[in-house]
Amino acid sequence: MTARADLPLPSCPRVAGIHAAAASHEWMPVPSTGMTEEGVPFDTLLVDCRAATMVAGGVAYGAIEAAAVGIRDGRIAWIGPEADLPDDAASAHTDVQRLGGRWVTPGLIDCHTHLVFAGDRVGEFEARLNGATYQEIAAAGGGILSTVRATRAASLDQLIESAADRLESLKRDGVTTVEIKSGYGLDRETELKMLRAARALEGRGVRVTTTYLGLHALPPAFAGRADAYVDHVIADILPDVVAERLADAVDAYVEPIAFTPEQAERFFAAAAEHGLPAKLHAEQFSDSGGARLATRIRALSADHLEYADEAAVVAMAAASVVAVLLPGAYLALRETRPPPVDALRRHGVALAVAPDCTPGPSPLTSLLAAMNLGCALWRLTPEEALAGTTRAAAQALGLAADRGTLEAGKRADLAVWDVSTPAELSYWLCRSRLWRRYLGGVVS
Ligand code: NIG
Ligand code: FE
Repeated sequence: MTARADLPLPSCPRVAGIHAAAASHEWMPVPSTGMTEEGVPFDTLLVDCRAATMVAGGVAYGAIEAAAVGIRDGRIAWIGPEADLPDDAASAHTDVQRLGGRWVTPGLIDCHTHLVFAGDRVGEFEARLNGATYQEIAAAGGGILSTVRATRAASLDQLIESAADRLESLKRDGVTTVEIKSGYGLDRETELKMLRAARALEGRGVRVTTTYLGLHALPPAFAGRADAYVDHVIADILPDVVAERLADAVDAYVEPIAFTPEQAERFFAAAAEHGLPAKLHAEQFSDSGGARLATRIRALSADHLEYADEAAVVAMAAASVVAVLLPGAYLALRETRPPPVDALRRHGVALAVAPDCTPGPSPLTSLLAAMNLGCALWRLTPEEALAGTTRAAAQALGLAADRGTLEAGKRADLAVWDVSTPAELSYWLCRSRLWRRYLGGVVS
């Protein structure tokens, strides 16, 4: 929460009344201070709308019918039923916007992408359809390594522009925050170049968080010497990533075709010394101990998880590790073993959903499509899918105090939709019903 949300309650009796109402209506997000003590009105006031606050524990979607949202200094200053608005909420300087009864949700959050890369893997797509497996292609020097060759050869500008094009597609889906991983460099120069490209996208109408995917694949120069590569990453690349503040988290791919849990743990321990939290690609093709490692080191999230067993799920719940489900890779690789959604649900693990946009197994640039696939393939409910791209996605990035729900004090990153119910966001396949996006309270 921000300092603003911690301001003492104003003396305005109507605002005090709203706080009393909140105590008796669990579904109502905690209203804000409404006005500051100085009585400063909102910069922007959204009215004539319905809000899917995505605050957990109450009515479906944390919904407020006939809602109003007050925005000040780029953050939500007040949200609640329009009828309860403080009398002095708006001044002549407040920009009052009527939304025509549309639904407002938190701006969507894509918490797992490999958006920055060069080239494509369409040849691999064809090869897989002719019978080769993802693992065979990787073992033959294709797969991730083919994207590494193209990414090393690309300029910084080429990486930025090609990723910006994919980013536009996410923005059309109402995305206001996107996580972007490195991992197609596997050498110091290219990993830094990828992360710089990701940071450069921050200015393109979206907030970016970056993840140094230090252990994605073993580069040919280190063939047969995985431990030496981990040493190199820790000693020679990670310090520069940290010095330039290029990463908000780190990631590793734990799988027999990639790295062992022990190798990943060494990398994560080094990153933790620099204050960087961990995320993991875990249990995508085999039960390799990635999810258990995630719980041991209190990672933000474990992603994929098709082969996670119930014991791992129980441990994830205890350690508050978010499960990031990636139906695009599952679909494109024609996988048949779904992640343990029932167990994750039963044990109360937060479920996030993301497209895993990659040139390889998941060339998917639509977060809304990922929501639909989560429902169609794994029977997520539309509410779970929307929570998975708002509240849980923020948690998977360690940003839950700052965004992911519509609550006072959080960033006014919003998406407004031409839908009759929030379930429509998961219902359409390849049809975005986005009407407008706000970034920090400004139409973007
Ligand atoms: O999340 N599994 C590892 N990483 C990516 C795929 C990388 C690639 O094949 O290019 C993923 O699916
Ligand atoms: Fe991935």
